[in-house]
Amino acid sequence: MSKIIVLMGAPGAGKGTQARLLQQRMGLPQISTGDMFRALLKTETPLAGEVRPILASGQLVPDELTIRIVRDRTGREDCGEGYILDGFPRTTVQAEMLEQIASEQGHHVIAILVDVPFDVLEKRLTGRRTCPVCGEIYNVYFKPPAREGFCDVHPEVHLAQRADDNAETIKTRLMTYQRDTQPLLDYYDATDRLRRADGTREPEAIYADIEQAVTGEP
Ligand code: AP5
Repeated sequence: MSKIIVLMGAPGAGKGTQARLLQQRMGLPQISTGDMFRALLKTETPLAGEVRPILASGQLVPDELTIRIVRDRTGREDCGEGYILDGFPRTTVQAEMLEQIASEQGHHVIAILVDVPFDVLEKRLTGRRTCPVCGEIYNVYFKPPAREGFCDVHPEVHLAQRADDNAETIKTRLMTYQRDTQPLLDYYDATDRLRRADGTREPEAIYADIEQAVTGEP
């Protein structure tokens, strides 16, 4: 049966890093709600005006809008063989809606927690830099680019720092994760669909666990 791979974990745990590897190596589309909202902010529409302060504060975008964009995106042809969800679901309502979407689409949901203690996350988030062209993710402490401040793949492009990767917003994002998203781990555990990967190791070691969890499933 085709799969929806739900990557779970706190802000900065490495969901995006692992989702990109899965996309490159398994050929399944990576669907990141955070990336979709950041793309929306570039449109200067009234909706972008509503979403901008929510992202800037580290709160969650309302379920109704989030579910709508996920339903639209996952209904596209490239998702027929399954897909990777990075950053969704984040609330009980979203998780319930994903069950419905999965059943309509004929996919099986498997959740994987990239597990990282909170004290490691701040450095990961404040040190993160991203290429605005290809989305490649760097870190000034853990994965610096070959030339400081520039993408390895696009050597002429300056790396960007996310607006929500500042100390105050990080605090709110972590609190929001604990309050709204962490309870979903029990939800997937109770139905034996949660796998865990120790996210403090090198990305390749984490990927190996995730790959095993995904391919070991029926
Ligand atoms: P989103 O973009 O999803 O942000 P997040 O969940 O806070 O997660 P991040 O993207 O910050 O971290 P990540 O786990 O992907 O880590 P990464 O791989 O980049 O959401 C942003 C906002 O959008 C939310 O706050 C909310 O407002 C809104 N939103 C999104 N989805 C929503 C939803 N479903 N409902 C409502 N609102 C929603 O890695 C981080 C850094 O660590 C990088 O520098 C990387 O190089 C480094 N790193 C990664 N792995 C390792 C490793 N193994 N060792 C050392 N360094 C590592």
